[in-house]
Amino acid sequence: MSMSTALQRVDARAKVTGTLRYGADRAPDGLAYAAFAVATISKGRVVSVDTDAAESVPGVNLIITRIEPDELKSPGFIMGGGYGFQSLQPLTSDHIAYRGQPIALVVADTLSIATEAAGLITATYEPEQAATTIDADGAETVVQSQAIPIPMLADTVVGDAGAAFAAAPVQVEVEIHGPAQHPVPMELISSVAEWNGDTLVVHEGTQNSSAIQNGVAQQLGMDPGRVQVISPSVGGGFGQKNSLQPHIGPLAVAARRLGRPVKLMLTRPQTFHQSSFRPASRQRVRLGADTSGRLLAAIHEIDQQTSRHDLFPALYTEVSARLYGIRDFRGQQRLVRTDVQTPGYMRAPFEHISVFAMESAVDEVAYATGQDPVAIRLANDTMTDPVTGLPFSSRYVSECLRRGAQRFGWADRNPEPRSMRGSDGTLIGWGVAIGAYPGSTAPAIAKLSADTAGTVSVAVAGHEMGQGIRTAITSLVANDLGIDPAAVQVSVGDTRSAPQHLTAGSWGTATALPAVHAALRELRARLGLPHTGPVDLRAAVAATGTDRVDAEATTMAQGQPADVAVDRLRRGLPAMAGPEYPGFVTFSYIAHFAEVRVEPTTCRIRVPRVVSVADCGRVASPITAASQVRGGVIWGIGATLREESLVDARYGGFLNSTMEEYPVAVNADIHEIDVDFIDQPDPVINPVGVKGLGEVAMVGVSAAIGNAIFHATGTRFRRLPIRIEDVLASL
Ligand code: MOS
Repeated sequence: MSMSTALQRVDARAKVTGTLRYGADRAPDGLAYAAFAVATISKGRVVSVDTDAAESVPGVNLIITRIEPDELKSPGFIMGGGYGFQSLQPLTSDHIAYRGQPIALVVADTLSIATEAAGLITATYEPEQAATTIDADGAETVVQSQAIPIPMLADTVVGDAGAAFAAAPVQVEVEIHGPAQHPVPMELISSVAEWNGDTLVVHEGTQNSSAIQNGVAQQLGMDPGRVQVISPSVGGGFGQKNSLQPHIGPLAVAARRLGRPVKLMLTRPQTFHQSSFRPASRQRVRLGADTSGRLLAAIHEIDQQTSRHDLFPALYTEVSARLYGIRDFRGQQRLVRTDVQTPGYMRAPFEHISVFAMESAVDEVAYATGQDPVAIRLANDTMTDPVTGLPFSSRYVSECLRRGAQRFGWADRNPEPRSMRGSDGTLIGWGVAIGAYPGSTAPAIAKLSADTAGTVSVAVAGHEMGQGIRTAITSLVANDLGIDPAAVQVSVGDTRSAPQHLTAGSWGTATALPAVHAALRELRARLGLPHTGPVDLRAAVAATGTDRVDAEATTMAQGQPADVAVDRLRRGLPAMAGPEYPGFVTFSYIAHFAEVRVEPTTCRIRVPRVVSVADCGRVASPITAASQVRGGVIWGIGATLREESLVDARYGGFLNSTMEEYPVAVNADIHEIDVDFIDQPDPVINPVGVKGLGEVAMVGVSAAIGNAIFHATGTRFRRLPIRIEDVLASL
């Protein structure tokens, strides 16, 4: 199989011409429009909701302020055996758990009528004292390993890190504050719910169609076979669209009561309050080393914000224990209950901020021991997983570092902080960091159908959220059979064509491609074709005497019990395994090199160039893969220098909940991003040799930039984002 052909993104033309259809583009006859009215307290009880003014607006069809539990149940929490990003289902009780929680759903003939009427709804409350930030009085801290006693969430303990750290001649201690952040995908959270007789059809941009299918069925007390979820394209997911959103149940109820299809699109501020976000965190890293920079011990302690009603588990030490060959490691994660909606996964959810802490500390060890920051990373690399003692299936960290250093011109760096300047006095800093991300695999069912016109239809578990999974699948099928990519049709995200496992955690391509690869072998067998090599598909199908030949294959993680995995896949529950497999451990890796320039008077920080070299196994789709890495680096620049969801602790909620006030990196912030790949197939993770890429792309970007800012300014900044005022205050 050759992956060398760089196929253009198959949906590129449709995207730029505006013909690509997203979930809420669905516009059936009789469509009605919904809007939420939301709570203006951060905790307490709704005493009464006044809907009189809203009801008098012409064109209002329905106002729902309460749905009884026999009509709508909790979806359950996705990390607690359920389907929702949180267990709390608004509108089913008088309890207010966070500011911005819906208190009424208005349905009207037009969006503007629904919005106007929702704005006229008022309520009286019995407020209670809320703790809305990780540092607030009343926030409650629990030790994760005790609160959720399952092996995956246990403390990470290898050797005796306390003793090894105490004995280490070089000791570095770092405390890092990570802000709450919100993903702001271009496509707002939105759905169209419509009933076809007693079948509910949901059109929605989601990363998890089958969770919506099974979750809303559970909420409404229906057979999941009578729910269809169609998500052909997602306009950005980033983890925020990874599960059942709490608007879907009320929307389905409204559509049923009205006998009309209903569309709901959250406003941007509502997406900040009614869907998941990256929780605030505090980390303390202690690193012990010998005088040559050999890392001897690490102690990594984390406090992560969660909600009052769910424990969103933290997995920071899964990656920090694997960055280097550190023998003695101790990691502990604690969860801090606050009065917010449940936080969740946001691109490189734990790894981004965990690695910022670890790689900042490693940089300090380099300076404390007089080692070059690249050399110390090479010297501490390992091919054996320090946690399990198992080999890594493939690991090209050192190659990423060497190749990146060469492309960047690292050899020209003067290690002295504040030593490199532009002609106008601009401080120049060069920094490096590595990143890693666990390699997980989910079960997938792939169905292929070849016809006498030479067309191959593919249906498989996977969701297209811009990462290019359709392009990677098309490329695999076209290259395998030696056919025109235009003859390949891919259906993903559609519960009618194949069960849809959650696409997240960078397992999407590494999950879908092995299933498609296996189905291709089956198709070839049914057509009497050789196992590999280009084929005359039309002739082969015609020779069977039928119009169409079908093939199907089911694949899953190595060592995973097939019955359990497939049962969970069909029920829309997470069913992935990894990064630990029988006999090996799999991660993807990257090395980032960043240049920063700090203007001497304004202290404005620019990032004129980044070099990133990734090890994601075989590169399945070179053009979309390079875009993924550029996107990850841009995301990292935003996370380091721009993004923070601000809270006024007196009132709760999030203050800067629009794109004007929540600044993400824009074109003016982005300059040269040079991307390269090791492109070595992983020999054991799956027969295609692909590992994940989407999230590792941003892991380490913040540390590379932070280390570059230290090199430029001589100051270590411990709190993200690093802003002009922080640098000004330090000089
Ligand atoms: Mo990703 S944050 O696991 O969708």
